[in-house]
Amino acid sequence: MLAGAAGCVPATVQHAPPPPPPHLPLESDLSQPFWSPQVCRNCHIELHAQFTQSMHSKAFVNPVFQAAFYGKLMSDMAENPSLERQARTCLSCHSPIAFLKSKNGIVPRDEVDVDLSGVTCDFCHTIRGFKGERPGSANYIAVPGETKYGPYQHAFDFHHAYSELHTKAEFCAICHEAKTIDGVDFRTTYSEWREGPYPAQGIQCQDCHMNKTGFLVDGKAHYEKGKAAFMTVGEAPDREVIYSHRFPGAYSDEQIDQALKLRIEWGTEKLAPGAPVPIHVHVDNSKAGHRIPTGSTEVRLVWLEVAVSEGGREPVFLRAEPREGPPGYDVAGAAAWDAYVLRRDIPEGSRIYRTVFVDAQENPTVFLQEVVHRVFDNRLKPGEVRREAFAYTVSPSFAPGDSLDLSARILYRHYPSSFAEQLGVPDRPPATMARASASLGN
Ligand code: HEC
Ligand code: HEC
Ligand code: HEC
Ligand code: HEC
Ligand code: HEC
Repeated sequence: MLAGAAGCVPATVQHAPPPPPPHLPLESDLSQPFWSPQVCRNCHIELHAQFTQSMHSKAFVNPVFQAAFYGKLMSDMAENPSLERQARTCLSCHSPIAFLKSKNGIVPRDEVDVDLSGVTCDFCHTIRGFKGERPGSANYIAVPGETKYGPYQHAFDFHHAYSELHTKAEFCAICHEAKTIDGVDFRTTYSEWREGPYPAQGIQCQDCHMNKTGFLVDGKAHYEKGKAAFMTVGEAPDREVIYSHRFPGAYSDEQIDQALKLRIEWGTEKLAPGAPVPIHVHVDNSKAGHRIPTGSTEVRLVWLEVAVSEGGREPVFLRAEPREGPPGYDVAGAAAWDAYVLRRDIPEGSRIYRTVFVDAQENPTVFLQEVVHRVFDNRLKPGEVRREAFAYTVSPSFAPGDSLDLSARILYRHYPSSFAEQLGVPDRPPATMARASASLGN
C-alpha cells in the first residue's frame, strides 16, 4: 500500500513489525469448515481465474514440491528418521488446510483433498493474525467461517471485514520468512525487504506482486480496477483498485525477464594495441523488493556472463575474480562442489549470485531437510547496483578501424540440472534476465 504517512519514516526506524491487536484469537479455531475456491468462484470469477494461474493455487500439486516432499524426503526419512522433524513442517505452507487438520503435519498424498490443497482463497482470507511477535515459519492463526478478511475499510454488505494485516508485508512474511526447525534462516524474503529502501516508502509486497504488471513503473504501482465480485442478485461497487491474484514470481517469464538491468562502463576512451582495458559491468537490482535471487535460494541461481570480441573475431569469455575467500562460491566452477552440482549448467568463471547451505558434515546441500548452516550469501540487495570489474588486454595486432565489442547477459536458473535429475522432474532451461552490449573503436 502506498501509505503517504509511512513515507516519512526513515529506514533506520524500521524495527519490529506492529504487535497484533490484543483482541485477536491466539490459536486457530477449526470449528467451522474451510470453503473451496470453487465456491468463491461463483462471485469472484476474475480473481479466481488469476488465482488458478498463481503458484499459491499450485503450492501442493507443484511437481517440484511433490518430488521433493513425497519422493526424496519421504524415502530419505525411511533411512534417517531424524529428518522427520523437518518433514513435519513442509505442508504448513504448501498445503496449510491439510496441515491444520493433520495429527503431526505429515499427510499421505492420496489423503490430501486436492480441492483444498495449496494456499487457497479461504485460507488466506480467514487468517486473523500470527502467533508471537513476528510473522514467520507459518505461525498463522486461521479462523475459517462466514467472515472473510480483506482490504476494504468500508463494508459493502457481504461476508467481509477489514484486516489491516492483509494490506501489509507482514501478512506475506507468515510464509515467506522461515527458519528450519533448528533455527537456520532458509526463507528470508521479508527480512530482505525490510533491509531495503521499500518499507520507508510504504511499498509492501502487495504493491508489486498484486498490481497489474508485477513491477513498479517509475516507482509507482498501477493496479487493475473494476468490480471485485459479480453476482446475479445485487451489484458490487466499482473499485478504483483491485489487487491482482496472479502473484507473478519465478514462474512468470515476464517477471524474470525484467527484474534486473545491466550497464557497461569502459574504463578507457582510447584503445591501443597491447593496452589494458578496464571494464565495469553494473548489475542493477532496483526493481525487486528483496534480494535477487530470493525465496528458494538453496536452489535458485543467477549469474553474469561477459564476453569480448575484437575486430569481429570469436568472442573471448571474461572470467570473474573471486571476491570472497576460498572456496570461491562467487565464481562458477571454483569450488569443488560445483563439479557435481552445477556441472555444465553455468559457464566456468561466471560471477554467480547465490546462497550456499551445508549439512551436518559441512558438505554443501541443495536439500532443505539437510540444512545445518548458511555459509555463503552474495545475492544482490534490493536497490543495490553491484559493480563488477573485468580486465582485458587489447591484442598486439589490433588495427586502426577495428572495434572491441562487449556483450554481457545475466541469467536465471530455477534449480541446477543435477537437482532436477535427483528429483526426477524436468530440467528448466535458463532464462535471460537482462542483456547489454557496447562497442569501442580506436
Ligand atoms: C496468498 C494469499 C491470498 C490468496 C490465496 C487469495 N487472496 Fe485475495 N487477497 C489477498 C490479499 C493480501 C489481499 C489484499 C491486498 C492489499 O490490500 O494490499 C486480497 C484481496 C482480495 C479481495 C479484495 C479485492 C481485491 O482484489 O483487491 C477479494 C475479493 C479477494 N482477495 C478474494 C480472493 C479470492 C476469491 C481468492 C481465490 C480465488 C483469493 N482472494 C485468494 C490474499 C490472498
Ligand atoms: C455470493 C457471492 C460471493 C461469494 C460466493 C463469495 N464472495 Fe467474497 N465478496 C462478495 C461481495 C459482493 C463482496 C464485496 C465486494 C466489494 O465490496 O467491492 C465480497 C468481498 C470479499 C472480500 C473483501 C473483504 C474486505 O472486507 O476487504 C474478500 C476477501 C472475499 N470476498 C473473499 C471471498 C472468499 C475467500 C470466498 C470463497 C471462500 C468468497 N469471497 C465468496 C461476494 C461473494
Ligand atoms: C499460507 C502461506 C503463504 C502466504 C500467507 C503467502 N504465500 Fe506466497 N507462496 C506460498 C507458497 C508455499 C508458495 C510456493 C509455491 C511453490 O512454488 O510450490 C508461494 C509462492 C509465491 C509467489 C510465487 C513465487 C514463484 O516462485 O513463482 C509469490 C510471488 C508470492 N508467493 C508472493 C506472496 C505475497 C506477496 C504474499 C502476501 C500478500 C504471499 N505470497 C502470501 C505461501 C504463502
Ligand atoms: C519493488 C517490487 C517488489 C516488491 C516490493 C517485492 N517484490 Fe518479490 N519480486 C519482484 C520481482 C521483480 C521479482 C522477480 C525476480 C526474482 O525472481 O528474484 C520478485 C520475485 C519474488 C519471488 C520469487 C523468487 C524466486 O526467484 O523464486 C517471491 C517468492 C517474492 N518475490 C515474494 C515477495 C515478498 C514476500 C515480498 C514482500 C516481503 C516481495 N516479494 C516484495 C518485485 C518485488
Ligand atoms: C514457512 C513456509 C514454508 C515451509 C515450512 C516450507 N516451504 Fe517450501 N516453499 C515456500 C515458499 C514461499 C516457496 C516459494 C519460494 C520461491 O518462490 O522461491 C517454497 C518453495 C519450495 C520449493 C521450490 C519449488 C519450485 O518449484 O521451485 C520446494 C522444492 C520446496 N519449497 C520444498 C519444501 C520442503 C521439502 C519443505 C519441508 C522440508 C518445505 N518446502 C517447507 C514456503 C515454505
